[in-house]
Amino acid sequence: MTAMRILGIETSCDETSAAVIENGTKILSNVVASSVELHKKTGGIIPEVAAREQLKCIIPVIEESMRNNNDIDALAVTVGPGLIGSLLVGVETARTLAYVWKKPLIPINHLQAHLYANWLDNKKPQFPAIGLVVSGGHTDLVLMKGHKNIKWLGGTRDDAAGECFDKTARLLGLPYPGGPAIAQLAKKGNPNAYPLPRPMLNQKNFDFSFSGLKTAVINLIKNPPDSGQDKKINQADLAASIQAAIIEVLVEKTVRASKEYGVKSVLLGGGVTANQELRKKMRLEIVNRELKINLFIPPVKLCTDNAAMIASCASFNFRSVSWKKIKANPGLSIEEMV
Ligand code: KG4
Ligand code: ZN
Repeated sequence: MTAMRILGIETSCDETSAAVIENGTKILSNVVASSVELHKKTGGIIPEVAAREQLKCIIPVIEESMRNNNDIDALAVTVGPGLIGSLLVGVETARTLAYVWKKPLIPINHLQAHLYANWLDNKKPQFPAIGLVVSGGHTDLVLMKGHKNIKWLGGTRDDAAGECFDKTARLLGLPYPGGPAIAQLAKKGNPNAYPLPRPMLNQKNFDFSFSGLKTAVINLIKNPPDSGQDKKINQADLAASIQAAIIEVLVEKTVRASKEYGVKSVLLGGGVTANQELRKKMRLEIVNRELKINLFIPPVKLCTDNAAMIASCASFNFRSVSWKKIKANPGLSIEEMV
C-alpha cells in the first residue's frame, strides 16, 4: 500500500496552521502561526482582528508546510466550531486548492480533531475510549466506541474550563491567555489556601459548571478573608487554589466515566491539557491507581490548536465532499460528523 499524505488546514480561532501527515500518524510538517501576542494587548480575542491575521498568514503557512512535501493525496480543513471569520479563511482556501489541484476535500470537526492528536505518537489508543476535550471554548466528555462513533456524555453548562482560567486570570490582573499565566503563578502558591467550590462534583452526571467558581473568586477578591495582620489576597495562593478546583472536577468526572463505561483508553485534548498539574493528577488517578486503562495525553505543542491533528482526524474519518458544498459551521457540536 502506498503512503497516504494529507494536508491539514486549521484556522478556527487565533492560530493559523498547516501540516502534512502520512498515514494519519507521521508528522512530515506542522507549521503554526499564532496571533496571541496581538490579543494580549486587548486582554482577549477580538474576532475581527483574529480573522484579519488568518488572512495574512494562511498562504505563507501552507507554503511553508508543503516546502518539502508538495506531493499530497487529499486536503482536510476545520469547518467548526470556531469564530466564523477565522473559519472562513481556512475553508475558502481549502476549497480553492482542492478545486485547482483536483484533490479530495475532507471537512473536519475541530473538537474531535483535538482527540486525534493522540494518534500522532508511536503508541496507539484502543477502543472503547473516554475523551476529555478542554479548550478555551469547550469542555466535553465523550465515549468513543471507534472511529466515526462518538457519543457525548456531558459538558459544561456555562463557562468552559479554559474560559474559567482566562476569566479568573483577568480578575487577578494576569495577561491573556490566562491558563499558562495562572499555572505559572500557581507554582509558588498553596492550592489549599482558599476553599473554592468544586461545581457539580457530587452530581452523578458528566456535566460541568465553572461560572460559580468565577463568582467565588470575584467575591474573594472583593472581600478577602482576614488573615491576621492584613486583609489582602495572596495572588499565588489564589492562582493555585483556582487551578486545583478546576483540575479536581475534570479529573474526577473523567475517572468516573472511564470506570462506568469500562474503557481501554482515556484520551485528553485541547489547550487546557497543556497544564502540567492536570497531566500529573490525571496520571496519578488513572495510571498509578492501576485501573488497567491506558492514558493518552498529547505532547504540549499538540494540545493547543494545530493542523497535524486535523490531518490525522481526516485520515481515520475519511469522507470527502465536493469543493462546491463544503461549508463553515461555527456552532458544530463534538458529536456531529461533518
Ligand atoms: O484548544 P485551544 O488552543 O484553543 C481553543 O480551541 O479554544 O485552547 C486555548 C485555551 C485557553 O483558554 C488557554 O488559557 C488554555 O487553553 N490553556 C491552558 C494552558 N495552556 C493553554 N490552561 C491551563 N494551563 C495551561 N498550561
Ligand atoms: Zn482548540
